[in-house]
Amino acid sequence: MRLDDIQSRAAWRTEDLTKDPDWVFDIDEAGAAQLARTVKAAYDPERELFDYTRADFDFGPAWDTLSQALREAHQGRGLALVHGLPRAALAEEEFKLLNWAIGLYAGVARPQGKASQYISQVRDAGVDYRAASGRGFSSNAKLDFHVDGGDLTTLGCYNTAKAGGQSMISSSLTAGEILRSERPDLYEVALQDFSFSRQQEETEDEGPFYTQPLFDEAEGRIFGKWNRNRVQSAQRIETAPRLTDKQVETMAALDEILQRPENMYTMYLAPGDLQIINNYTMLHSRTEYEDFAEPEKKRLLYRLWLAPPDSVRMPESWWDFYRAIEPNAVRGGIRGHNHDDVCKAFDARQAAELGMTLHDPSAAPTPTRG
Ligand SMILES: [Fe+2]
Repeated sequence: MRLDDIQSRAAWRTEDLTKDPDWVFDIDEAGAAQLARTVKAAYDPERELFDYTRADFDFGPAWDTLSQALREAHQGRGLALVHGLPRAALAEEEFKLLNWAIGLYAGVARPQGKASQYISQVRDAGVDYRAASGRGFSSNAKLDFHVDGGDLTTLGCYNTAKAGGQSMISSSLTAGEILRSERPDLYEVALQDFSFSRQQEETEDEGPFYTQPLFDEAEGRIFGKWNRNRVQSAQRIETAPRLTDKQVETMAALDEILQRPENMYTMYLAPGDLQIINNYTMLHSRTEYEDFAEPEKKRLLYRLWLAPPDSVRMPESWWDFYRAIEPNAVRGGIRGHNHDDVCKAFDARQAAELGMTLHDPSAAPTPTRG
């Protein structure tokens, strides 16, 4: 598997991002004021998020900036950072609505866990990240390098931590290239299936774990997948295959490459920042953090997982988790235990508005593996 030119900008090293800030965007004051105005005009505490539509919001010129950033994350560097969302002008619920509204324009938001929530508050709820059902977004723990469960993740920062909570990003494409050149034997192992736990959030038609190689390809593009916590967690599931010594060695080699200073870009998100990540070319992580004592000052980010329009074909090995691999399809997410008719109606409405294909996620796969 070789990197194609098509993906070359996502195969960055830290110095590429430092030298060329083409992935950093600013919303100016007038743009931010317009965002605040349109959100405040639309905000109604009685209304469910699913009841808002694209027509409720007029982003003005700020949308040009946001759409460029989304394109950069989706088709360019794999990563984008937008400064200048109107954090100070908005209450917590209004800021949440702003993040949701950006998602309405950017794609079809996907559910993110057992509760089938379509937007997550990333905050410390005391969850044990290493438990069989643990999830990082509800803990204050240092996280392993991982991908999220949709093509794109947006993270809008409302509050930062008192200490820690640094964001780390490493390109899975770069790491794969290095692994292939330094340890071709382990790269071969990485092309074979690993088992990932569903962290007890599986829906009725899913097993407790799924398998994917760490690197696969489709139509000339390489797709990276990694999450040590879920791989280790799957080892507690009786029916999951045991890790081989070579797999364990591959995991260690990959994690070491990802964290080399020349490969790992670190940043602190500031209030009003929006980070956008491509989850098949980037891996991300964050350090442990300590919160302020006051509830209103605790670290808080709003997270969306998005299936964007004009997406590309995924490898067949990605079907089991994504439930659709075709270009421009609504795919990804963790449907969880509450993916009801209201969720399905939202998926259908957004898919229609964006001209995207919606498959029945519980139907059998169209492609066959192997
Ligand atoms: Fe994540």
